[in-house]
Amino acid sequence: MGQAERRDEQAASEGPMDTDKQGATGDKRRGGREEVPVDFRWMVIEDIPGVMTVEHASFTMPWTPDAFRNELTQNHFAKYVVMIFEERIIGYAGMWTVLDEAHITNIAVLPEFRGHGLGERLLLELVVRAMALQMQKMTLEVRVSNQVAQQLYAKFGFTGCGIRKGYYSDNQEDALIMWTDLA
Ligand SMILES: CC(C)(COP(=O)(O)OP(=O)(O)OC[C@H]1O[C@@H](n2cnc3c(N)ncnc32)[C@H](O)[C@@H]1OP(=O)(O)O)[C@@H](O)C(=O)NCCC(=O)NCCS
Repeated sequence: MGQAERRDEQAASEGPMDTDKQGATGDKRRGGREEVPVDFRWMVIEDIPGVMTVEHASFTMPWTPDAFRNELTQNHFAKYVVMIFEERIIGYAGMWTVLDEAHITNIAVLPEFRGHGLGERLLLELVVRAMALQMQKMTLEVRVSNQVAQQLYAKFGFTGCGIRKGYYSDNQEDALIMWTDLA
C-alpha cells in the first residue's frame, strides 16, 4: 500500500477459529463477542517467520522476508506491530510515519482468526501508536474490490479520497486511497 508496487489482498475469510481448534472463542462476527486475549508489541527481526505465515495466508503477492528485514533495519519511517495469541503471531500491521502522516503499509490477520474483532483491535493499536508518535492523519491504499477491509477502515473514519488507476500489477486493479484524521 505504501509501496510503489503493492501486492494483492485476499478477501477475508470466515475462518474456523472455533473453540476446538484454537481454544479462544467460538463466537462469530456480528454475534456476541468474547474478547480474545491478545497482546501487541512492536515487531522485531525474530518475528519475521511468524509474520511471513500471516503474510502468505493473506496476500497473493506476499512480501519476502528480506522486504520485512529491510523495513525493520533500513527504513527509519517504518513501524510494525505484531498481534500475539498464545505466543503465536496471528496478525500484524505496519505504517510509515512521514512528517505528521501515518501511511499504513499492511494489515492482516490469520484467516482462522478473522471475523472476531481482531483486525479492528489491531488497527486500533496502530492508530493509538500513531497518535502517540504525534501523527495527525492516516492514509492507505486498498483494492477497490476489498470491501471487507474498506468496511474496517470506515469504522475508523477513513473515507475514499481518490483512485490510483491500475495500481495492482497482477490484475491492474485500481486502488482506493483513503484518509482519516487522527486529531
Ligand atoms: C481486513 C482484515 C485485517 C480484517 O480482519 P478481521 O479480524 O476479520 O476484522 P474484524 O473481525 O475485526 O472486523 C472489523 C470490521 O471489518 C469488517 N468486516 C470484517 N469481516 C467482514 C466480512 N466478512 N464482511 C464484511 N465486513 C467485514 C466489518 O466492518 C467489521 O466490523 P463489524 O464486525 O462491526 O461489522 C482481514 O480480513 C485480513 O487479514 N484480510 C486479508 C488482508 C487484507 O485484505 N488486508 C487489508 C489490505 S488493504
